[in-house]
Amino acid sequence: MLNKKSVDDINVKGKRVLVRCDFNVPLKGGVITDENRLVAALPTIKKLVADGGKIILCSHLGKVKTEEDKLTKTLAPVAVRLSELLGQEVKFVPNPDVVGDNVREAVDAMKDGEIILLENTRFRKEETKNGEAFSKDLASLCDVFVNDAFGTAHRAHCSNVGVTEYVDTAAVGYLMQKEIDFLGNAVNDPVRPFVAILGGAKVADKLNVISNLLEKCDTLIIGGGMAYTFLKAKGYEVGKSLLDETKVDYCKEMMEKAESLGKKLLLPVDTVVTSEFPDPIDAEIATEVVDADKIPADKMGMDIGPKTKELYAEAVKSAKTVVWNGPMGVFENPILAAGTIAVAKALAETDATTIIGGGDSAAAVNQLGFGDKMTHISTGGGASLEFLEGKELPGVAAAQDK
Ligand code: 3PG
Ligand code: MG
Repeated sequence: MLNKKSVDDINVKGKRVLVRCDFNVPLKGGVITDENRLVAALPTIKKLVADGGKIILCSHLGKVKTEEDKLTKTLAPVAVRLSELLGQEVKFVPNPDVVGDNVREAVDAMKDGEIILLENTRFRKEETKNGEAFSKDLASLCDVFVNDAFGTAHRAHCSNVGVTEYVDTAAVGYLMQKEIDFLGNAVNDPVRPFVAILGGAKVADKLNVISNLLEKCDTLIIGGGMAYTFLKAKGYEVGKSLLDETKVDYCKEMMEKAESLGKKLLLPVDTVVTSEFPDPIDAEIATEVVDADKIPADKMGMDIGPKTKELYAEAVKSAKTVVWNGPMGVFENPILAAGTIAVAKALAETDATTIIGGGDSAAAVNQLGFGDKMTHISTGGGASLEFLEGKELPGVAAAQDK
């Protein structure tokens, strides 16, 4: 259990509560295309409303680099959708500096149980530099600070870390607790056998995760683009498949590490190949299945093959805990999604505790319709990855202990 002060440990009646959420949702033409992060934030908001707090919500949205970014990266659509989801008005109070006179006036006028939302915290340049002035501005709005932004917990910014230095009370919300409990238990105190599945394009993105999970798990399964660097390290030719030459030695080291720790490391035994990368990504494309040690020089691996699907599904069947991060192939293309679907299905069918570590794998599981079959789907991409690397997350560390 996360040993941080939570919304159950504080009294917010009549108090101004600044709640840092991760409302960094994908938007297309002002429309929210995936609202999981909004839904995940509701329990904490509802609890604070029920307890009679004056709720001041804040979040970043995307990367804000230019003045033009400010036109498209406003949190206005989030206020509208949150109001609908909560069945209660969430009043949007925009200010180009996030905190300003109109915000202070709005906060002063709040009644217990009311909710306002501030503008994108990254409209203030110092936000990502953890600057003092903005941290103090945010702190000046509230009596109590609650951080429920797990997705941002790997960042040390004003609105999740800096602000905690200038408030009396800095607690975490239910989402933060739930994420850390699920990911933490799975990795540090798993019911065994514990199977970890890693995929995604690049080995370089997962170096520390591979190493850390090898120590914790019983079986490590590798798929996706990163598998080809492992196959190369095994001495196979990988044709035109995605390959990181600079990480071949690292993959060799990891195979030796698995061996010396007595852990199973599963690599693809066959693969679906194409002549080129589909363009657009979901274009129809001709495929062929070959054994992993027989990838033709002019072909590239795009998904795990049928024998590998069976091998991986079998490994998941006997597991009691499964953590999955990263797709098995180019799942955005239906022709190259079979490996990712097979793994998602295996996870959906097992009684094991199944945890999906955010980002692409969360998107894949939801898109394929297996979302409600998983024990926990993380709202954090980068944050869950850094957590799985065994790193301390600054956003979590900054909250006060129980
Ligand atoms: C995310 O979606 O990764 C988090 O919201 C953090 O955003 P960032 O990667 O832009 O810091
Ligand atoms: Mg990110």
